[in-house]
Amino acid sequence: MSEIAAVILAAGKGVRMRSELPKVLHGICGKPMIEYILDLADSLGIKRKVVVIGHKYEEVSAYLVGKGVEAVQQKRLLGTGDAVLSAKRALSGFDGDIVIIYSDTPLIKKETLGDLIKKHAETNSACTMLSAIVKDPTGYGRIKRNGNGNVTGIIEELEADVFDKAIDEINVGLYCFDSRKLFDALGKVTSKNNKGEYYLTDAIRILAKRNERIDAVITPDPEEALGVNTKEDLIKAQRVMKVRVAGLFAERGVTIMDPDTTLIDQDVLIGEGTRVYPFTVIEKGVSVGRCCEIGPFARLRCGTTISDGVKVGNFVEITRSDIGEGVRIKHLSYIGDASIKEEANIGAGTITANYNGKEKNKTVIGRNTKIGSGTVLVAPVKIGDGAVTGAGAVVTKGDDVPKGAVAVGVPARLLKKGRARR
Ligand code: UD1
Ligand code: MG
Repeated sequence: MSEIAAVILAAGKGVRMRSELPKVLHGICGKPMIEYILDLADSLGIKRKVVVIGHKYEEVSAYLVGKGVEAVQQKRLLGTGDAVLSAKRALSGFDGDIVIIYSDTPLIKKETLGDLIKKHAETNSACTMLSAIVKDPTGYGRIKRNGNGNVTGIIEELEADVFDKAIDEINVGLYCFDSRKLFDALGKVTSKNNKGEYYLTDAIRILAKRNERIDAVITPDPEEALGVNTKEDLIKAQRVMKVRVAGLFAERGVTIMDPDTTLIDQDVLIGEGTRVYPFTVIEKGVSVGRCCEIGPFARLRCGTTISDGVKVGNFVEITRSDIGEGVRIKHLSYIGDASIKEEANIGAGTITANYNGKEKNKTVIGRNTKIGSGTVLVAPVKIGDGAVTGAGAVVTKGDDVPKGAVAVGVPARLLKKGRARR
């Protein structure tokens, strides 16, 4: 395969998102859209990645530092054709094929891009692009074909007449171009259209007119064609991604009982045999061991590690904490900045009061402890191995409970030896 460079378009204003955050930094399952595109290029071994940035240049380029991309600036946002031309200088001397990816198409699969590149290499096309047959083509560029089925161009929504609008084959925004032919055609694109922009899609019409071969490969999975232009599109994309993530976990022996009501970020690890019940949120970076039960209605936040055989039940929130093997936290708890050792039983309604208004403090709960229902542990505090707290105990900061001791009351005091067994 000849050398390939990717040009990723991320300069648009994203007006339809109605957001201060640049469109490409909006997350889907906890991962910014642009990351999906970079991962897509990486998964096919594309080393050269030129990202075209315009709107909020500083913010987006700062985000991309250290991610192995070349950032180029599109000075004025004059359309997708102009955006690609902005990358021309960075690619001077390069004469391989160029893959162009719009950064608002996060659902495109690695296999799809791989097939497109392969097809392009096998044919002598000036451009091999991805298309999709969709139920509602509104807003997308429509693929125009002649009587022989050959692609003659792409017509954008704003220029489409009623007949064009009835075309259900759309432009996904993923192309493989012969670089020389691409830049040559782009030089001829004008902004004489209803948007006053230089459309990349016009380059296709120009090439077709020159009798260059254009292939539009129809994806078998129209779901991946989604272009995220609005917050509603973002929700649609997340819905698809959630089901994909659940599928990947299923392959690894993890049961996500109800993907529709469960939100698991990318970059979450879950071990075999674990069941995740409905209405559970697991944020990025969390690691859950094997054979755990999580939820329903649980929220595991960043910086949390759950060992094997742990049960986290209804309305339990855990953040920045390490939970040892076999621990049970089954109802109505907040566990923050805590380290809970093996086999501890955390009673219903236990709270670690980790924040004193200025800083977060740590709670350590030893192995085989029994923390009574409604216990408040005011951090920093330590509960020794095998210790017990009574229902409703408030263990005040620094008043560590020694190994095997029993602490009851508000504020908690230690019971004399033996009284606990009464
Ligand atoms: C575009 C396509 C349309 C296709 C659809 C697929 C064009 C003219 N239209 O429409 O055929 O069906 O995507 O989702 O290409 N961008 C820049 N600089 C600009 C303008 C846009 O970098 O000056 C970037 C945007 O950041 C975005 C991408 O190009 O990542 C596409 O732009 P967008 O405005 O979303 O185009 P669509 O209207 O979705
Ligand atoms: Mg778009």
